[in-house]
Order: sequence, then structure tokens, then C-alpha cells
Amino acid sequence: MSEKKIFESAKLHNIMLKNRLIRSATWEGMADIDGHIPDKLYDTYEELAKGGIGAIITGFTSVAGDDHYFGGMVRLSDDELIPEHKRLTDLCHKESCPVIVQIALGEYANGIEPDDMRKEDIHKVISLFIDAAIRADKAEYDGVQIHAAHGFFLSRFISPAYNHRKDGFGGSSQKRGRILVEIINGIREKASSMHITMKINCSDFMRGGLDAQESFAICKLCEDAGINSIEISGNGTSVPGIKPGVNEAYFKEYAYEVSEMTDIPIILVGGHRSVNNMQKILNEGGVEFLSLSRPLICEPNLPNRWKSGDSSPAKCISCNICYQTTGHKCIYCKN
Ligand SMILES: Cc1cc2nc3c(=O)[nH]c(=O)nc-3n(C[C@H](O)[C@H](O)[C@H](O)COP(=O)(O)O)c2cc1C
Repeated sequence: MSEKKIFESAKLHNIMLKNRLIRSATWEGMADIDGHIPDKLYDTYEELAKGGIGAIITGFTSVAGDDHYFGGMVRLSDDELIPEHKRLTDLCHKESCPVIVQIALGEYANGIEPDDMRKEDIHKVISLFIDAAIRADKAEYDGVQIHAAHGFFLSRFISPAYNHRKDGFGGSSQKRGRILVEIINGIREKASSMHITMKINCSDFMRGGLDAQESFAICKLCEDAGINSIEISGNGTSVPGIKPGVNEAYFKEYAYEVSEMTDIPIILVGGHRSVNNMQKILNEGGVEFLSLSRPLICEPNLPNRWKSGDSSPAKCISCNICYQTTGHKCIYCKN
């Protein structure tokens, strides 16, 4: 196989990207309580789209109107929100930048955990995701990303640390993963041409949690259900203190393994900071796309900078203070 390059066009299943870089979901915390998108959030996306990234995955977008897991979440829980999302997809498409919306649930019904849910609650959650995806299709997103990582609702549901059910939705990785299969099936039925991707923990990295073998089994299950790509992440999501060439790409071994087992594009997130290292990763395993979050908060123009020949590493020092600032900005750069 010929060498993969960062700056070459590549197909993420049915979506053509101008390069192999993707903006990983980054929740900005700027929406109002009903999930309306404020004007200044469009500026963030316009800047990203103009910065040369191959595709954007939006921040955490809640599928439920009563999900208050954290503040400032954008929502896709109501049809009246569709035009605001259409404005967002239009501005990305104007810059020839595909955009995928991350559909997510922080918590269900004020924090009911998987073990305490009735079957109808589970079906309700499945419908919330499918309905949000239908709205995403109407808003002309290129795809949806099911957020099954980082300890949010779906991540807990597929984790043996939180799901001890003994019915068809628990007891084995297949049964815990069934909720994802039903969401994928439902989206495929109602929005047949939408790209469906998923962000999943390669491991919960906690005792009794989802381990790598179980995560891989669920990835395979979702591939069989017709998912189009998978982004590999993990708990401990945004590792601090990344040094270029030293501790980059901290989930890469897991992503290589998933790519061996599946035939769909694998996206790897977490700690990409230098062109040299990223170029190496693309060619030492089966990973096809690299996604970034914090470096683009600091430098939305980073892809264009690298493409123009300035290959000095991302300026992000992985201090994680962006998590604490209004709008999740970088305190060290002008943005
Ligand atoms: C401020 C901030 C907000 C984030 N919001 C989300 C989110 O909404 N959904 C998600 O899946 N990951 C989110 N992440 C995690 C990133 O997408 C990414 O997985 C992680 O930061 C590691 O990649 P990086 O080293 O390129 O930052 C967020 C990270 C940061 C720093």
C-alpha cells in the first residue's frame, strides 16, 4: 500500500476530506439552557473551517431537552433548533469543510443509571438519539457521531462498571452494546445516507470498567451493524503535559488493534502535536484519520500553517486550562 500522507484528500467512507485531519468534538459551553446556538459560536466554527481542517466534529450536542449534565450544551432535541444547525452546516460547507454533529447524552432523567432503567426508558434513549440524527440530516450535517466515550450516558451503559443488568441490555459486551446497535439501525433506517461514526473508549482505565477486549468487541458489533467509522479515545481523555515526540498519541496501540479487526476507517484522537509523529502514525498502523481538539483551540489555523510548510509543533502545551475558561478558549493565545 502506498504511503498515507496528512495532506492528501481521503475518503471517510462517503465523505471526501481535503486532508486526514479532523477536529475532534470540543464542547464550548456557550449555548443557552434550551440549547440555542449563540452568534459567537458560529465564529468559532467559521474560524475552524477556514483554518484548513479536513472535517469538523461539533462539540457535545445533547439529544435531550432536559439533560443538564453540564452547562452551555448545544442541543438537537427539538425541531425548532434545526434552522440554527443549518446555519452552522452552511457556513462550514461554504468553506468546503464537511461537518459531523456529535450527538450525546450526559445523563438520562436527572441521573438514572443503567441498572435502574425500565426497558421503556432504554427505548426512549434510543429514540432520542434517532430523532436527533433525523434532525441532523434535515440540517444537512454530513454525519452524526454517537458519543459513547468519556463516562457520559452511553459510555456508562456499555461499561460493566455501571451496567449490571441481566436482561437483553446487559450481562455481556454484546448485550451492553445492543443499545448502540439499535441506535445505529434506527438512524440507518430513517437517514439512510448519513455517515454514522462513534467515539468510544478503548478502555475505561478503571477497575471493573470496559477493558480493551470488550471495547474491541463492541467496535466489531457496531461495524456489523453498519457504522461507517470509529474514533478511538479513552477515559483520561485529555492527558496533560503532552510533549512533541515524547508522549504523543497516547491511545495509538489500541487504535492499531481496532484497525486490524475492522474494515472501516479508524480515527485516532489524543495528543497529536507534531507533523513528524502524525505522519509516522498514519503509516505504522491502520489508522486513516487523526483528530485533534486542544491544539485547535489554541490555533484554529494549525492545518493551514502545517500545510504551508511551517511544521513546528502545535503551540498547545496541554495545560487543560481551556476546560475552565468561558467558551473554552486558550489563555496563552489570542483566541
Ligand atoms: C475544552 C474541551 C472540550 C471537550 N469537549 C468534548 C466533547 O464535547 N466531546 C468529546 O467527545 N470530547 C471532548 N473533548 C475531548 C477532545 O475531543 C479530545 O478527545 C481530547 O482533548 C484529546 O485530544 P487532544 O489532545 O487533541 O486535545 C474536549 C476537550 C476539551 C479540551
